[in-house]
Amino acid sequence: MTEVSNETHFLHAIEMGLGAWQWGDRVIWGYGQTHAEKDVRAAFDVSLNLGIRFVDTAEIYGSGLSERLLGRFLKETDLPVLVATKFFPWPWRFTKGTIPRALKGSLERMGLDSIDLYQVHWPAVTMSPETMMEGMVECVKRGWTRTVGVSNFGQNRMLRAYSALAQHGIPLASNQVHYSLLSREVEKNGTLARCKELGIRLIAYSPLEKGLLTGKYSLKNPPPGVRGSQYAELLKKLPSVIKLLQEIGQNHGDKTISQVALNWLICKGALPIPGAKNSQQAEMNAGGAGWQLTEEQIARLDHATDNIREYSSRPPSS
Ligand SMILES: NC(=O)c1ccc[n+]([C@@H]2O[C@H](COP(=O)([O-])OP(=O)(O)OC[C@H]3O[C@@H](n4cnc5c(N)ncnc54)[C@H](OP(=O)(O)O)[C@@H]3O)[C@@H](O)[C@H]2O)c1
Repeated sequence: MTEVSNETHFLHAIEMGLGAWQWGDRVIWGYGQTHAEKDVRAAFDVSLNLGIRFVDTAEIYGSGLSERLLGRFLKETDLPVLVATKFFPWPWRFTKGTIPRALKGSLERMGLDSIDLYQVHWPAVTMSPETMMEGMVECVKRGWTRTVGVSNFGQNRMLRAYSALAQHGIPLASNQVHYSLLSREVEKNGTLARCKELGIRLIAYSPLEKGLLTGKYSLKNPPPGVRGSQYAELLKKLPSVIKLLQEIGQNHGDKTISQVALNWLICKGALPIPGAKNSQQAEMNAGGAGWQLTEEQIARLDHATDNIREYSSRPPSS
């Protein structure tokens, strides 16, 4: 495998970011019902003021509305913000040329000349990792993105993407994957360790398990919409985890449940990007960074969530 120096890209210096799926998405997140533009603008502003300077969006979030909103907010601030968005590999996009074309659309929606991180949102059967990375190399050459990442890639595809980029002297900057106290697959199957070894930043999405790790949902009060059925089983096992998060938070200078859950990910070496619908959520989440759980607290959280789901210890074939 061709290797490339990967220790210096900007993602290694970022502790936590902000997810923008909620901005414009009606189906899962109820944009227009539970929150509106003024709320997500406030979430953005509060995050920036509290030192969060990395925002993750995607061309498919709110069918482009998330990128448009982010573009509007960026124009209204003088603070430096690092922007990440994603290419969605629809089945009709099977050539490398579709990648720079999609990025051009994202740049236009955000009113930017370039972004900091461009990610492939999901692997696809219609395009190999090598072809995808050829498209990504073109984006870098055109100066439209500083760095390249993937998302939802298992180790096999991640290594293929890493090698394909390395041939052009470009590091694979990140792999954005589902990772939280209630979803530890990447720890168990070795993806997290492999990322660390190769200098690939593991970006943790759904770090609050879509709101479950805030303490506000329970069997009696499940999250609304599809989240309720998605998490029916997990909600049964949740109380003991929430109790422990609460206890640890209280013993650690009155941190909240969600702050402890986010800090646990930071301590594991991941970069969490919690989504926020409003300023209160953004403010609370920002408080998850800038401090460290003790080794003993991490071990207790590990132990409490080790068997919360069944994990395969084998690396995924994808
Ligand atoms: N690459 C991918 O395939 C992929 C997949 C998923 C997500 N992502 C990215 O990761 C980001 C984060 O993941 P996520 O949005 O799925 O889930 P998450 O960050 O685990 O949860 C976000 C949700 O939890 C609730 N919440 C957040 N902070 C809270 C607080 N302090 N107090 C109370 N409730 C709070 C809010 O929903 P309610 O108020 O409605 O409960 C919020 O919408 C996304 O925005 C997106 O950028 C990427």
